[in-house]
Amino acid sequence: MAIMSVILAYLLNTLQILCGCQTVRRRRFEEDVEEIRRDLLRLEAILRNYDAREDDHDKQADQRKINQLRVASFIAADALEGYDNLPLAWLDVEPCGTFKSIKRQKPLIEIASAIKISKSTVSKLLNEIEMRQGNHLIRELLPSELYYSTSRRHNEAEVVPEDHDLVGIEAPSKKLMELLLDDDPRLKVISVAGMGGSGKTTLVKKVYDDVRFKNRFRYHVWATISQSFNMDELLKDIIRQIYAVNMQPIPRGVETIKVSYLGKMVQDSLRASSYLLILDDLWSIIAWNDIIKTLPISKRSRIVLTTRDLNIAPPSCPKFETHIHRMDKLSQDESKILFCRKAFQDGICPPHLEETLESILNKCDGLPLAINSIGGFLRKKEMTSEWKTVNHSLDFEMRTNAGLDFMKKILTLSYNELPDEIKLCFLYFSMFPEDKKIEYNRLIRLWIAEKFVHPIEEKTVEEVAEEYFKILVNRNLIQAAETRSDGRIKTCRVHDMLHKICILKSRDQKFAAIHKDGEDAWSYHFRRLSIHNTWQNVNQTEKNPHLRALFVFGFADFPSKETVLSLLLKKHRTVRLLDLQAAPLKQFPREITKLVHLRYLSLRHTKVETIPISIGNLKNLETLDLKHARVSKLPASIVKLQKLRVLLVYRYDQIESYTHFHYKYGFEPPNNIGKLKSLQKLGIVEATRWRRHTLTELGKLSQLRRLLVIELREEDGTALWSSIQNLRQLRTLSITSVNEEEIIALPDYDQPSPQCLQRLYLTGPLKKLPNWIPMVTSLVRLSLKGSQLDHAPLVQLQDLPRLEYLELFQVYNGKELHFEDGGFRKLKVLGLDRFDELEIIKVDQGAMPNLEKLIIQRCTVLKEVPIGIEHLTRIKVLELFDMPRELIQRLRIGGEDNRRIAHIPQAYSTHWNRGWESDSLDGHTPNVRESINPFGK
Ligand SMILES: *[C@@H]1O[C@H](CO)[C@@H](O)[C@H](O)[C@H]1NC(C)=O
Ligand SMILES: *[C@@H]1O[C@H](CO)[C@@H](O)[C@H](O)[C@H]1NC(C)=O
Repeated sequence: MAIMSVILAYLLNTLQILCGCQTVRRRRFEEDVEEIRRDLLRLEAILRNYDAREDDHDKQADQRKINQLRVASFIAADALEGYDNLPLAWLDVEPCGTFKSIKRQKPLIEIASAIKISKSTVSKLLNEIEMRQGNHLIRELLPSELYYSTSRRHNEAEVVPEDHDLVGIEAPSKKLMELLLDDDPRLKVISVAGMGGSGKTTLVKKVYDDVRFKNRFRYHVWATISQSFNMDELLKDIIRQIYAVNMQPIPRGVETIKVSYLGKMVQDSLRASSYLLILDDLWSIIAWNDIIKTLPISKRSRIVLTTRDLNIAPPSCPKFETHIHRMDKLSQDESKILFCRKAFQDGICPPHLEETLESILNKCDGLPLAINSIGGFLRKKEMTSEWKTVNHSLDFEMRTNAGLDFMKKILTLSYNELPDEIKLCFLYFSMFPEDKKIEYNRLIRLWIAEKFVHPIEEKTVEEVAEEYFKILVNRNLIQAAETRSDGRIKTCRVHDMLHKICILKSRDQKFAAIHKDGEDAWSYHFRRLSIHNTWQNVNQTEKNPHLRALFVFGFADFPSKETVLSLLLKKHRTVRLLDLQAAPLKQFPREITKLVHLRYLSLRHTKVETIPISIGNLKNLETLDLKHARVSKLPASIVKLQKLRVLLVYRYDQIESYTHFHYKYGFEPPNNIGKLKSLQKLGIVEATRWRRHTLTELGKLSQLRRLLVIELREEDGTALWSSIQNLRQLRTLSITSVNEEEIIALPDYDQPSPQCLQRLYLTGPLKKLPNWIPMVTSLVRLSLKGSQLDHAPLVQLQDLPRLEYLELFQVYNGKELHFEDGGFRKLKVLGLDRFDELEIIKVDQGAMPNLEKLIIQRCTVLKEVPIGIEHLTRIKVLELFDMPRELIQRLRIGGEDNRRIAHIPQAYSTHWNRGWESDSLDGHTPNVRESINPFGK
C-alpha cells in the first residue's frame, strides 16, 4: 500500500510537471531519466562481464542474481525507449488542462510510471551488489568498459575470398565425382561420414555444383535433413526442386496434400529419369529407412548422404550398391595452408609465430571448421602474446571428445572478442531455423530495427551494418550462401554447430526463446520469441512484458490458428519487430495495428491482399515489407507513418528462361506520398495509376536512396525527371516504360544528376541517350534495356570513371560494336544481349583492361567472339547463351578459334531447352559457379 501511494504521488507530480505547473519538478523527471541511463550502462557492463566469464562453479552460483539484473535491464531499456519516443513537443511546457494535454496524459502516465519503477528496481539491485552480495560480479570492471561499445572502430571489414576454404578437397572430390559420373546402371548410395566440422558439406557442395553443369542427371535435388526431420517437408522440398527443373507450376494445394500422395508424386516424377539426390546431415537410420522407401530405384541415379554417424551408412542390397567415404583429417601441411590463408593477408606465417602456430594446429587435429574459425579469429593479430593466449586456452583434451565442446570453446573465444553490438547481431541467428539461408537485406533491416547498429561518422546505418556483417564472415561465424551477379552477398547461413552454440548463448542471455516441436522453450522472461512449425501450447503462455520481437517460421498452414497469432499479439503489445515472412496468411491480422511500438513488419511472401486503414496507428513503423505479397494499393492513412524508411510493395513473376517486359507488379501510391519524409527505399510505384501531381509529390521525398518506377508514359517523363532532381541522396534508380514502344522521355540536363547515383536501370526505348548520364561520375552499374538507339552509346559511356557493370539489351541495331583503347577502365562485367544485326565486336588493345566476365547472349548473326578478345588479360569467365552453332563450333577444342580463348579460365556455352543446359568449351571441369543466370534473368 505504501509503495502504491508513493508511486501515485510521484505520478501526480509528474503530471503536474509535464503540464508545466511545476517546472522545477519537471527537471527532476529528466534527472531520473539520466540516472537510469547511467545505471543501465553499469548494469549492461556487469552482464557483459558475466557472459564473458569461463563457465565455473562461481558463475553458476551467480545465475539467479544475474537473471534479476537482466530483467531489470529489460525494464530500464523499455522505459527509456518509451521516453525517447515521446515527441519533443510533449515535454515542452504547456498550460494545464488544454485538450491536447489531456489526450497526452495516458501515455505520459505510463512512461512516468515505467521510469519510476525502473529507477527504484535498478538502483536497489546495484546497491545490493555493491554492498554485499555479489562483489565479485563487478570486481574486474574498469571505468573504460562502461563505454566500451560505442567508441569502437572497426577496420577489419574486408572479406576473405570464399574459395580459400577449399583446401585438401581436390582428391576426395575427384573420387566422389568418379563414383557419381560413371556409367554403372545401378542406383548408388554414397555415404560421406565424418565428425561435425570435418568439411562434409563443403565437399559435397563442391561436387554437386560441378555435376550440375554436366548433362548426366535429369534432376539435381539438394535436401537438408535437420534433427527435427519431417517427411512432409522433405517431400515438398523435393517436389519444388523437381518442378523448378521442369518449369511446371507447382500444383495448387501442394501445401495440404497428404504424405502418402506426396510420396507418389515424387515416385512418379523421378521414376523414368536419372537423378542426383543429396541428403545433407542425416541424423538417424530411421529417417534413412523412411526416405529410401519413398524413392524410386531409377537407373543410373545416385544418392549422396552426409552424416556424422558411421552407423548410418546403409548396407548394400540387391536394389542398390553402397559406398562409404570417410572424411580424412587435413594433413599438417594442409592445415597450415588453410590456416594461413585465413589468418594472413598474404597467406604466409611470419617466423615469430611459427612455433605457436604448430601448437595450435596440433590441437585442431586437422578439423577444417576449427582451423578456419581460429584462423579467422587471429586475423590481424600478430602479437606473439595473443597467439600464446589462444594456444593455452585451447585445452588439449578437448580434441579427444572433439565436436561440440571443442567448437564451443573456439566459438566462445571468437565471440567474446566481438564488439558488443556485433555480439547481438550474431545472436540474431538463433532466431532462424537451423540450416536456413537468410537474406542479407532482411538481416540488416532487422539489426537496424533492433537498434544494434548506429551511424558512425559519415557512414549510414546500412553501411555500418554491412561492416558488422563482414566482420562476422571474416571470423567464420557466418558464411555467404549465395552471391549476386555483382558479387554482393545475397544470402548467408551459419554452420549447424555454430548455430547450436548460438542458441545456447542466446538462451543464457535471455536474448531469445525458440519454440518448436518437442522442445518447449517457454520461460517467463526473454526478449524475443521465434516459433517454428507448431502452435502447440502457444496459447497457454503467460504474458511476457519484455517481448520485443516475434518471428514465425515454417508453417504450411494455420487452419483457424490465425486466432492463436492474434491472441499472442494481444498479450504482447510491446512487440517492436514482427516477421511473418512466408506465413500462410490470407488476411492482414487486425491485431497488428494495435502494436503501437512496432518498428519492423514483414508480410513478405504471404497472400495478404489488403492493408487496413488502421495501419496509420503504427506511428513508429520504419520498415514495411510487402514484397511478394498480393498488395497493389495502400490506404491513404499510410502517410501517417512519419518514421517509415523502407516501403516495399511489389512482386515478380516467376521467371523461366529470359525475362519478358511485364514481369514486375507494383502498387498505386497515395496522392500525398510526399508526406513520408523519412522514406529511403520505395518500390515499386506504378506510374500509370498516378495523377500528374503525384509525380511532383515524389520530389518531396528528399531522403530517398532507392526508387523503382514502372509503367511510365512518355508524357510523364519530364515531370518525373524534375522530381528526381530534388532527390539528392538517390543511389539506385530504376525506370521502366509502360510497354516496349513507349519512349522513356528523360530530358537533357546540363549537370550530373542525381549527384550520387550509383545504379541506374532504364528499361524501354530512348530517343537518344540522355546527355547527363555520362556526367554521373558516381555510376557503378548501368543497365539499358530495349533502348533501340540509332548509335551505339559506347563512346559516350566509356569514360564513366567508376563503371563496373554494364548490361546492354537490345540497345542498338547495327552491325558493329567497337570498344576503343582507354575506354571502360574500371569495367568488370559486360553483358550484351539481343543485338539482332550485330556481326562484329572489336576490342582495341587497352580497352576494358579490368574486365573479368563477358556475357554474350542471343546475338544470332554474330560471326565470331570479339576480335581482340586476346587483349582482355584479366578475364576469368566467358559465357555464351543461345549463340549460333557455328560460332560455338569454332571455339570448341580443335575449332579454329579455340586458341583465342585459351587464356580464359572458364568458358561456357549454354542453351535453353526446357531448362538451362550448359557445357564447358575448354574441356576443363567447370568450377563452382554462382548462378547460371548472369543478370538474374
Ligand atoms: C601451447 O600450449 C601447450 C599446453 O596446452 C604447451 O605445452 C605448449 O608449449 C604451448 N606452445 C607454445 C608455443 O606456447
Ligand atoms: C489452445 O489450444 C488448444 C489446442 O491447441 C485448444 O484446445 C484450446 O481451446 C486453445 N485455447 C484457447 C484459449 O484458444
